[in-house]
Amino acid sequence: MSVAPRAGSGKVTVPDIVARKSHSFAGTVETKPKITCLTAYDYPTAHLLDEAGVDILLVGDSLAMVVLGYESTLPVTVDEILHHVRAVRRGTRRALLVADMPYGSFHISADESIRNAVRLVKEGGAEAVKVEGGERRLELIAKLVEAEIPVMGHIGLTPQSVHAFGGFHVQGKTAEAARQVERDARAVEAAGAFAVVLESMPRELAAGITEKLRIPTIGIGAGPDCDGQVLVFHDFAGLTLEHMPKFARKYANWALELSRATGEFCDDVRAGRFPSDAESYHSPAELREQLLARQRS
Ligand code: KIV
Repeated sequence: MSVAPRAGSGKVTVPDIVARKSHSFAGTVETKPKITCLTAYDYPTAHLLDEAGVDILLVGDSLAMVVLGYESTLPVTVDEILHHVRAVRRGTRRALLVADMPYGSFHISADESIRNAVRLVKEGGAEAVKVEGGERRLELIAKLVEAEIPVMGHIGLTPQSVHAFGGFHVQGKTAEAARQVERDARAVEAAGAFAVVLESMPRELAAGITEKLRIPTIGIGAGPDCDGQVLVFHDFAGLTLEHMPKFARKYANWALELSRATGEFCDDVRAGRFPSDAESYHSPAELREQLLARQRS
């Protein structure tokens, strides 16, 4: 599948996302359509979400928790992310495809970080990568951008920092913590990121950052004033079996529907209602006669 953007093809590109930033001049706000982003981890889901018009598909390292069943995002590897990026690539035509850089893939050396990001683009077909962290990632983001890899930043509650934070807690709730989140936002922008995810922070802080930055902000648990919103697919589709954070709206209840369908399938099989004759293959008439005759004799 060709993913090279062609003018007028409707393909969402990095410059399209940057152009969706709403700017305010002298008290008036020039509003743009908000950016929509969902996570995706496989071909059929990517295909459906892409056709339904979502702007960005993110192969998030949330893969570790919602698909692979780990308790945090830390264990997932570059190879595992790559496997899913390839599947999502095959299902995506229009949306911008962003791949998360997992924990450990950009913490050892600049060379190794760039090599890993290049793999996500070259072997996976990602059009951009997402990197967690603010000020500390300034140099790395600049190096990736220099290597022609567009970068989406991610600040606030960065799940890869779960141990440093002591859990998945809302960030920026004190004056000093809020200033740090603002510094992180500015650093990510200064380093050349084309957009930044703001996760789990007071809406007032996210609104202030959104107003100050030139790049779009994409919120998750950061209130309605960001330039766009992202949800984890399993929360959105009602497939999350554990506790859902308060910001995650369930747009469908697939868990309920799958559980109902599974019960119905088991009942039908056990009662001999599935498969029906119409759902079965049949021998040609001549052979059927022979088989019936053999059964009778
Ligand atoms: O991994 C992920 O799904 C994410 C989103 C929550 C933004 O980083």
